[in-house]
Amino acid sequence: MKELYQTADWKKEKHVPVITISDQIKKDVPVSVKVEIGKEIAHPNTSEHYIGWIELLFLPEGEKFPYMVGHVSFEAHGASTEGPNTSMVYSEPSTSFLLKTGKPGKLLANSYCNIHGLWASEKDIKVA
Ligand SMILES: [Fe+2]
Repeated sequence: MKELYQTADWKKEKHVPVITISDQIKKDVPVSVKVEIGKEIAHPNTSEHYIGWIELLFLPEGEKFPYMVGHVSFEAHGASTEGPNTSMVYSEPSTSFLLKTGKPGKLLANSYCNIHGLWASEKDIKVA
């Protein structure tokens, strides 16, 4: 399974989920975690080629299993009854989660492109 998830430098590869969170996280205070695709290089968003979903998990330090924070589906990719790319309605692959934790650990972001498969990135967080 692990080999199915691709990763790379998000500044050079448009599929990599980018995690943005404030550097100062306080114990038990909700903090916004933004996860987006195409921060540096835009990913296509057409009826034929799009990002289907983003999910975020959190692995507390010293624990074996991660917790699912959330999973967001992007459903509008330009299709309508007139055909592909005719609706002019597109859901962009960007979302935010509000996370509260009393523990430090690792944020794990995954995403799915309908053509180029699964992508992953991670970010360590500390708690003050
Ligand atoms: Fe793609």
